[in-house]
Amino acid sequence: MDASKAERVLREIEGSSGGRWIPIIGRRRGQILVEHIRLHRPWRILEVGTFVGYSTILMAKELPAGTEVIGIEIDEDEAEQARANIEAAELEADVTVETGDALEIIPGLEGEFDMVFLDADKWEYYNYLKNMARAGTIEGTGMHLLRLPEEGMRVGRYLPRRLHARAIRAQDVNLFS
Ligand SMILES: C[S@@+](CC[C@H](N)C(=O)[O-])C[C@H]1O[C@@H](n2cnc3c(N)ncnc32)[C@H](O)[C@@H]1O
Repeated sequence: MDASKAERVLREIEGSSGGRWIPIIGRRRGQILVEHIRLHRPWRILEVGTFVGYSTILMAKELPAGTEVIGIEIDEDEAEQARANIEAAELEADVTVETGDALEIIPGLEGEFDMVFLDADKWEYYNYLKNMARAGTIEGTGMHLLRLPEEGMRVGRYLPRRLHARAIRAQDVNLFS
């Protein structure tokens, strides 16, 4: 992998907003993802809410060949852009983007993931986790990271802690965002 290509794509996405706010995780919050990956060395990551692939690339550029990242994005144009950005980043990890509603896609995913990053509809975090638990997508040793509007990031171990206290009462948190 040519790390500078991934870095260039990240900077292009950061600069693509033309001063507008875009919903990428950005460098500061994104560093939490990077540190987790360096510490725990996951082999298969599921990302819910890929947008144009910024956080996907940020995570995948930390991973060696033989690892996998699957992103889910509901918006077709954004998913398409994410695929183009991922291709341009020339990553070693195997990275794919599924288009559709995560609540429908998660039950059909095969195999387990040892890290999940939730960054889609905050009100649905509890349901995403519940779906994953039902589908056997997540296992006892895995971890999930939630991106929250107010608090930044929260990390949890999978179940049974009432699905990370009902995805830390995502709806309540959202009321203050
Ligand atoms: C905050 S953005 C993701 C940003 C991205 N993780 C990053 O940091 O670069 C949230 C994304 O979730 C997507 N989304 C919302 N609800 C979704 C759902 N039910 N299934 C899949 N994607 C969803 C939105 O279209 C949006 O692109």
